Amino acid sequence: MTIMRLGRVQLRVPNWEESIEYYKNVIGLIETYRDENHVYLKAWDEHDHHSVILEKADSAGLDHLAFKVRFDEDLDTYEKKLNEYGVATERIPAGTRVAEGEAVRFQVPTGQYIELYSQIEKVGNGLPLVNPAPWPDGLVGMAPPRLDHLLIAGEDVEGTTKLLQEVFGFSMAERVVLEDGETPLATWLFVSNKAHDIAVIKGPNGGLHHIAFYLEEWSDIRKAADIIGKNNISLDKGPVRHGITRGTTIYFFDPSGNRNEVFCGGYIAYHDNPTITWTIDNVGEGISFFDKDPGERFTTVFS
Ligand SMILES: [Fe+2]
Repeated sequence: MTIMRLGRVQLRVPNWEESIEYYKNVIGLIETYRDENHVYLKAWDEHDHHSVILEKADSAGLDHLAFKVRFDEDLDTYEKKLNEYGVATERIPAGTRVAEGEAVRFQVPTGQYIELYSQIEKVGNGLPLVNPAPWPDGLVGMAPPRLDHLLIAGEDVEGTTKLLQEVFGFSMAERVVLEDGETPLATWLFVSNKAHDIAVIKGPNGGLHHIAFYLEEWSDIRKAADIIGKNNISLDKGPVRHGITRGTTIYFFDPSGNRNEVFCGGYIAYHDNPTITWTIDNVGEGISFFDKDPGERFTTVFS
């Protein structure tokens, strides 16, 4: 049984045309399919057909997120484990998402819908598999090589955290605890070897704090900040360094009000690493190490 990565997110975008333009030319994702109500996009170094689906909607937010599992039979195994854990599942037929096979869908205690899938069409990363150059021509905008992680919100942080740990084998890299020293305000969870594939924070049920794309270097973050300035994008926070995960980062909003992040750095996470704990009185430092200011908008705005 293996979850390989956060495979895709489906975002609701009320500001339709402007949001498509933004994800293609400001973030720099590549369009792979479009119908009346959806646009499918991928980051340049991803081989799969898509990692971000934009959905025409009345309000912003996360429609669902999906983990890609390695083997077809993982769908059966995880479905059984979810059912035994007391979580209802539903099968999404092949082809419901363009270029994808069957998926298993379920809801976590914080309200988000998660899907698992293994089959998706490969379209390549624009480079040959023999003697490739380091990057393809024609990249635009921030041009992240990949979708990396997301931060979801809800009341029952503990419930979603436990489910991801006990059913799927996620480990906890870091956590912020409330005054009692135990109750989690937020958890950073990984199943790969990144400091987080998904994080969970107390907030409105079903909420999305941000989706994050990876950039290679600190200078890429500075360039992303320039692009934000040049395109009059709504900047939320940064560039800063997180105490939590040690990433260097910048946060901003898409034209529909969904928060995005581009970041680099952080450490390699191993499943036998001990969990790092941040106390609530130091959360400012955890979020923004230089100025220790978590920022009011950063901690209160979700989509
Ligand atoms: Fe993040």
